[in-house]
Amino acid sequence: MSNPIYLDNASTSHPKPESVYRSMDKVVRLSANPGRGGHRQTLKLDRLVFETREAVADLFGVRDSSRIVFTANATMAINIALFGLLTPGDRVITSSMEHNAVTRPLRILQERGVQVIKVSGDRSGYVDLDALRRTCLAAPTRMVVLNHCSNVTGTMQSIEELGPWCRQHGILFMVDGSQSAGSFPLNLDALAIDLFTAPGHKGLLGPQGTGLLYLRQGVEPAPLLYGGTGGNSHADMMPEQLPERLESGTMNTPGLAGLKAAVEYIQEIGQEHICQREQQLVKRLLDGLLALPGIEVYGPVGADRHGAAVSFNMANLDPAEVGFHLDHEFAISVRVGLHCAPDAHRTIGTYPRGTVRVSPSYLTGEDEIDSLLMALEKIKAQHTA
Ligand SMILES: Cc1ncc(COP(=O)(O)O)c(C=O)c1O
Repeated sequence: MSNPIYLDNASTSHPKPESVYRSMDKVVRLSANPGRGGHRQTLKLDRLVFETREAVADLFGVRDSSRIVFTANATMAINIALFGLLTPGDRVITSSMEHNAVTRPLRILQERGVQVIKVSGDRSGYVDLDALRRTCLAAPTRMVVLNHCSNVTGTMQSIEELGPWCRQHGILFMVDGSQSAGSFPLNLDALAIDLFTAPGHKGLLGPQGTGLLYLRQGVEPAPLLYGGTGGNSHADMMPEQLPERLESGTMNTPGLAGLKAAVEYIQEIGQEHICQREQQLVKRLLDGLLALPGIEVYGPVGADRHGAAVSFNMANLDPAEVGFHLDHEFAISVRVGLHCAPDAHRTIGTYPRGTVRVSPSYLTGEDEIDSLLMALEKIKAQHTA
């Protein structure tokens, strides 16, 4: 079998830049816990955590890095935001393109008396923003929660239209940037985003076990976790100030070291360049898939901007079979099924079968896309007679 090819970067990116592996290795060997104690090793790690926060803030155009809270993943960031801010009687507008990381917390909150309304996307996954705005205005609304880029179809919602509108109408605007962070340049202040969530391990090219929550000044969710924060040990209540208020317990310092290295790598390459390269890879993939007979591609084709996730199905083959053949006969890893987003599949008409999803990253080679396309051609010839 040929060299393994990894095309599942929407799950988690691979490979990481070399500097990520190196810095994690260095930090995991240190004998200290940031924020805990005042010896020199601790102070060194305090500095590392601070510098990581500054690097992330800078990447997203955030002036005050204390508004960046580190979490274990995007799911934790989303849970802090939703459970920390929404109370019974609140009204939330979201979409049918969300990941379970959003829909499941909202489902529980709905049982507790929060009103949750989902605005549907079209067959390409685009949410009708006029319908969303009309829904917002039909009754007092506390929050809009919207996925920036679909992990199923790569569909990009026009968040730049919505942020200023929500601000004008006193509605909190929360963006799940899990599939766009690192892949598209984003200035959160300029976009009038109030809350932004992202994993560190996908487009940001950092390690698993890292994620972040950005909170605009004045947005102050209650903590989800209560416990030690290193300082203010005499107090029996959580500190008021961010980020400590939302960061109880020992941090993932090796992970943050990796995230810092990853963000520095992204800054060095340039976000525009990363975005352009990913768009080229997606175009090559889409063009190739569309040229293969018997393949149905979902989501936008020919869009100006397309996230690095492309979904398709092959003739009458189950997506799981396609994934199996790719893995076992060609050593190509893709994701198959519902991708933790059943509503999105209902929206594009692929529920419950799901799709085969291919997701390249900045570090994917053109030859890897071409190998996938050749493998699909062979699978089609051999298995769809
Ligand atoms: C759109 C979207 N939101 C949230 C998540 C959850 O991310 P994590 O696994 O880092 O919690 C994912 C992961 O695939 C995602 O694609």
